[in-house]
Amino acid sequence: MNMNENSEEIYIGKAKGPINIALIKYWGKDNEQLITPLNNSISLTLDTNVFFTETKVTIKPINLNINSPIDKNNQSQNIITLKINGKDYPVNSRIKNIFTKFFQLKIPICQKLSQKNLNIQIESKNTFPIASGCASSASSMAALVVSIFSALKIDQNKLSKTDLTKIARIGSGSACRSIFGGICEWIKDGGDDSHAIQLYDENYWDLGIKLIIVAQEEKEISSSLGMKITKETSELFKYRINHVVNENLIKLKKSLEKKDFNSLAEIIIKDSNNFHACCRDSYPTINYLNAESEYIIKAVMLLNKIYGKNICAYSFDAGSNAFIFYERVNQKLIDEYFNFVLGFSEKIDKLIVYFENKEIEKIKEEINNFVLKKPSKEKISKIINFKLGEGTKIIE
Ligand code: PMV
Repeated sequence: MNMNENSEEIYIGKAKGPINIALIKYWGKDNEQLITPLNNSISLTLDTNVFFTETKVTIKPINLNINSPIDKNNQSQNIITLKINGKDYPVNSRIKNIFTKFFQLKIPICQKLSQKNLNIQIESKNTFPIASGCASSASSMAALVVSIFSALKIDQNKLSKTDLTKIARIGSGSACRSIFGGICEWIKDGGDDSHAIQLYDENYWDLGIKLIIVAQEEKEISSSLGMKITKETSELFKYRINHVVNENLIKLKKSLEKKDFNSLAEIIIKDSNNFHACCRDSYPTINYLNAESEYIIKAVMLLNKIYGKNICAYSFDAGSNAFIFYERVNQKLIDEYFNFVLGFSEKIDKLIVYFENKEIEKIKEEINNFVLKKPSKEKISKIINFKLGEGTKIIE
């Protein structure tokens, strides 16, 4: 807490939030207001070397006079402003709900501020294309929640990380999984108790994630609207919720426990396929994938076939960008392969060395035939490699 020129207190907090990518997808809300999911989901939190949101929150009580709304109505009128990458944005109801949640907590500082009119500034910096399936909302809402927590200097004993996941959830469902690092599960639970937990930390398994950005455009249907349409119209989705997703959760947890990449990859791929099939089954139909996404799907399946077991997996969120998963011991092979099939390297011989003792000529022919259909280079705007990372962190 600092003092401003009128000796009023100022509360400032800063935090950096990572993105996360779901292996078992959240799609469909149980309760629209509380933002609780129809199913548990599991995700990887990614490192913040390239993609992150950094948020600074400044909270200043406004000096009151006799005509102020709080005196008349006994209800505070907070002024909230939001800047993202230097540009002003309107403050949506979800951001307001996050502040309301904080000021409803039975913690002295929260109770005190709830009695005042506040001037709240949110200044956010992020480094990724917004609304293109790159989980920007998860990282920004997690960063916002932790920066408020830091600004108010709340004790961890009074408000745990698990409690923070519950508040992040009301900003954007998947944001609750960005509070923790490593591998996380968002537990459906009843009502407002829905929260995320950490299954394993970021050092448990050296997994790599390659994000292939194939589109920079804003997506046509937001995830909120998309999941509403799917829930209301897709018969296949009912089957997903009642049968598919719970089995996938059990299987995925087993593969994580055994660090069995071959089976992990199969479940990741199947859950992504099942989620996108439900989108297509929605009425009106929803399609987040494009021709480049389809090409990458085939490229993954081809590599796994040639390799003789699953060495990589793909998953797509509500967008056409591909997330590729692998064990980092295989980083070089994965890099060479995707560089070659996406047209960033012309040298198949650099790739072929990784297929020792196999039918090299046949493999060469198969890959060369496959790349005849590769997308033009301009369609792939960026390739970024991630490792597992830490959760949202306070910046001092
Ligand atoms: O949290 P939202 O509303 O951005 O929804 C995220 C939905 C998916 O990214 C498609 C799946 C997930 O579990 O992250």
